[in-house]
Amino acid sequence: MEEWRGFLLVVHLFSTLTMAAPFYMLVVVNERARFGAPLGYFTDRYMENIIRNNAVRCFIFQGTMAVSGLALTYVSGYGWGNLLTYPPLVVKWVALLTLTGLLSYIHFSLQPRIEVLMSRLKPDSPAPADLAPQISTLRRRRKRLSGICLFLVLTALVMGLRVTFSFNMYLAVALVIVSALYAWRVYKRPVSLGWI
Ligand code: HEM
Repeated sequence: MEEWRGFLLVVHLFSTLTMAAPFYMLVVVNERARFGAPLGYFTDRYMENIIRNNAVRCFIFQGTMAVSGLALTYVSGYGWGNLLTYPPLVVKWVALLTLTGLLSYIHFSLQPRIEVLMSRLKPDSPAPADLAPQISTLRRRRKRLSGICLFLVLTALVMGLRVTFSFNMYLAVALVIVSALYAWRVYKRPVSLGWI
């Protein structure tokens, strides 16, 4: 059983790593703003491709997170009942479910609307005047949701460590507050120095 636990923890931690996507998507869009060039086919098509194509990867990693998390609940002996009664575990699966919901909204509703607008951009002519404000309204909403996703990933990570190491509840709450502050910071600026 210990080998299974070790294996599943590696899978779970590796998937946690891959769930840093909201962090990097926020860096990408903040760098785009810093770049400052007007809306243009090549720059913006490239950025939208990165964001759009990442969604499928994210769904797969979220699935891996859920499967390895459930397997760890069993193998590490926490018991299924704790998924409903032990707050750190409840927070983890609610966070993951919310993440999947937000990603589905972005991928199936928000992104297609951005794509319709993007299809009016042509490589050989400047962007129509009314296009930039319409795209940036949708992009702002997507960016806000990415900030929330980053906060949820960090919260689930803190709660995971609390499950394993049973550290003080006040420390867990303090770390969740720090996570919120950091997610806000990454949302606002390209964090050139990593933490700030
Ligand atoms: C975004 C989602 C999630 C993230 C980022 C996350 C992250 C983590 C991390 C960092 C750990 C600590 C691993 C270690 O001890 O080194 C952990 C442990 C754990 N996670 Fe998650 N997790 C997530 C979702 C879930 C879900 C949905 C479940 C259950 C349904 C779950 C169940 C567990 C369990 C049971 C442990 C403790 C493992 C042990 O001590 O053997 N996790 N998680």
